[in-house]
Amino acid sequence: MTQPHPDIAAVLDGLDASDGPVESARVLPPEAYMSPAFHEFEMAAVYMRSWLCVGRAQQIPAPGDYMAVTLADEPILVVRGADGEIRAMSALCRHRGHALKEECMGNTRTFTCPYHRWTYGLAGEFIGAPHMGRTATLAELKRDESLPQIKVELWYGFIFVNFDPAAKPLAPTMTKLEPYMAGYDLDNMVTIEPEVTSKPVPWNWKMLLENYIEPYHTQFVHPVIHDFAPNTGTEFDPWRGPDDNVIVRYVPFLERDGSLTEKGWAAPASFPIIESLSDKQRNRVGFGMVPPNMNIIFMPDMLCYGLIFPQGPTSLKVGGGLFTAGGWCMPKSTVALPDFRDRAARMMEGSRQLGEQDTAINVSMQRAKYSRFSPRGRFSYLEETLSQFNRWLAVRYRAEARRRNYPMRSAAQAAE
Ligand SMILES: [Fe+2]
Repeated sequence: MTQPHPDIAAVLDGLDASDGPVESARVLPPEAYMSPAFHEFEMAAVYMRSWLCVGRAQQIPAPGDYMAVTLADEPILVVRGADGEIRAMSALCRHRGHALKEECMGNTRTFTCPYHRWTYGLAGEFIGAPHMGRTATLAELKRDESLPQIKVELWYGFIFVNFDPAAKPLAPTMTKLEPYMAGYDLDNMVTIEPEVTSKPVPWNWKMLLENYIEPYHTQFVHPVIHDFAPNTGTEFDPWRGPDDNVIVRYVPFLERDGSLTEKGWAAPASFPIIESLSDKQRNRVGFGMVPPNMNIIFMPDMLCYGLIFPQGPTSLKVGGGLFTAGGWCMPKSTVALPDFRDRAARMMEGSRQLGEQDTAINVSMQRAKYSRFSPRGRFSYLEETLSQFNRWLAVRYRAEARRRNYPMRSAAQAAE
């Protein structure tokens, strides 16, 4: 047995009370939202073991196109190879570990480290390095020094990566989202990539998702601009057990064919309605998340996604969603409209208002986690999605505790 850091023990010991149906589940212990020790544990438990969305295949359409992204302190390259395949690999040069590329996109034939000019091909294969002949033969370097590969799966054109070589396929865990995806014809839509916040925002990554996925607060935090999508009409999709990777709810509109507008949720939508959507889809907004780092909003005129990049226990960068511009999948005809930019700017005005209201809440919530009175409160039925997120997390926290040989204190841990 290994003894966990007291903050990790506090969360693990408190997990049983959080892991259950909404009527009985309670908020996670506060250490889960601010402890550096727990954050390190959580990144290993969750980010190093889960499918993480990095963007859309449409963003890297041609051989040699790449995106360099950093997920939980791991810089990676996502590259379209000469054979058309998309691969993901560590972006660190095999020499002394300088990143080949960081936080950028482009097209290249090779990746060359700026430090000592070690060079790799599009599949991560070692190509050459200057002044290394006395140390090793080229054949030895080619054998030993290629970039470590990371699992990739495409889902409806979204690129997901997984650092766990033993990860199970993503698609079977995503079936709950399929009815929501119907009618969007993503392959023929245009992706406007998400702009990432230039500075990190100061709260825990889970808090962003929790605020996003629960409708309880919308009538109080977003008066008027959310009234068109009243929270009491929310429909929840039930939790399907430990292999479920989707948390989703939808909110019916007061009128058909609404969407996000300069006045918040309202009709008419900012852009032309997607005619291939069902009547049901035109009468609602769907809020989904693919934990831990993606959210996806289904609207009658577009599909909008956001990505989350934790920077530390109380810090994250956000791209898209309702936070920044972009992360938009839209029909070509919409993007071709002569007044497209004006319409997008008006929609962003509504998005900005919602985002600012939520930001104020998230900042206050983060501060409160340091209080000795920080509660482990009960949930409303309108927070069904929060109890589901707790369950999703609990599976992963417990698995990591077992891998680390921590003592199994709680009943649920011992039973597994
Ligand atoms: Fe909100």
